[in-house]
Amino acid sequence: MTEAGGGLVRPDLRTPRNWKWGSVPPDVLPLWLADMDLPPPPAVREGLAALARDGWLGYEMVPGDAALRESVRRWLAARGHPGLADPLELVLGPGVLPLLYAAVRAHVPPGGAVVVPTPAYPPFFSAARDQDRRVVEVPMREADGRVVLDVERIAAALAAGARAVLLCQPHNPTGRVFTRDELAAVAEAAARFDAVLLADEVWADLWYDAPPLPVAAASDAAAERTLTIVGPCKSYNIAGLPIGAAVSAAPELLAPLVRLGYGLGHPGQGPVAMWDLALRVAQPWLEATRATLRARRDRVVPALAELGVAVRSPEATYLAWLDGRRHPLGDRLAATILEHGRVLLNDGRHFGAGGAACARLNFATTDDVLDEALARLRRVLAAS
Ligand SMILES: Cc1ncc(COP(=O)(O)O)c(C=O)c1O
Repeated sequence: MTEAGGGLVRPDLRTPRNWKWGSVPPDVLPLWLADMDLPPPPAVREGLAALARDGWLGYEMVPGDAALRESVRRWLAARGHPGLADPLELVLGPGVLPLLYAAVRAHVPPGGAVVVPTPAYPPFFSAARDQDRRVVEVPMREADGRVVLDVERIAAALAAGARAVLLCQPHNPTGRVFTRDELAAVAEAAARFDAVLLADEVWADLWYDAPPLPVAAASDAAAERTLTIVGPCKSYNIAGLPIGAAVSAAPELLAPLVRLGYGLGHPGQGPVAMWDLALRVAQPWLEATRATLRARRDRVVPALAELGVAVRSPEATYLAWLDGRRHPLGDRLAATILEHGRVLLNDGRHFGAGGAACARLNFATTDDVLDEALARLRRVLAAS
């Protein structure tokens, strides 16, 4: 078994405990859920085992929490996040999504609207709709061979009363790393209409060419308007150790989450200790993993591009967004690939109104699995 995803799928992946592999029939290759097919950093696995062996699974001690705050502060500072107090004021929660849901509740009144650029990570919609807030979908637009934020339409939605923009930097599912200009323009619109930016930066470590700019670092207006949520689950492949943190250069944006106190739930000492450990010692692992993922990306994207679906090379994430709007399969893209190719992708219709002919492919797997999946996709897409 290699540590950085070099060659093998872990032999234990097809178990009922693994949602990605265990939930599909044996003949299906699962390239859907955003887990990587490689084990987490050895230090994290050993650290967790030691924690369990020593029997320290009670309430976490405040010093442990303080160590994590310092590690997160350093990580954010290295990425250029503005306005970090020392010690860092942050709100820990049991995952990125609980914090995102809480942020929507805190900053958008019941019945109010949230702007969601699409395609979007599906829970962005439920974070609003399941909590009696409305979603205004703003499709991203094409410009210079990229999909970009449609700032004019975002501004129009804010002018019509939306209170927040949900941003994902880097972007799941397109893999875009938004530029300073794009983000600053959205922040300027938010400032004009007194709205907030809720920035999910859970993918921040998995970039290829250059680290993504934190949304809050795009401009002074962005710093004043942005509540950022981060977490370790994507970087270290540890979604089973749920934890996230909310932070802002504007204390008043964080205050409603601070007030939630026990109501937010606590991540517990396993996730607290393992995130801290990963930030302190697993950076070489992360670098090696980025290199492995880059190689997978550079292998899979050109191959997909020959199949009649539009696909762009992601600048970050291990996700490829397949746009089949010009392919004869159209709205049956993901369903046909599953039925006839036995490859499970995420159906694009869950990512927003325009996504029906699209699909998301997770390429964080082995060369063998990718080769087989590409061969199957070739058969299905060429036959249609
Ligand atoms: C954009 C985004 N946010 C949040 C999450 C999930 O974070 P968590 O498991 O910490 O709630 C994911 C997982 O894929 C994601 O892609």
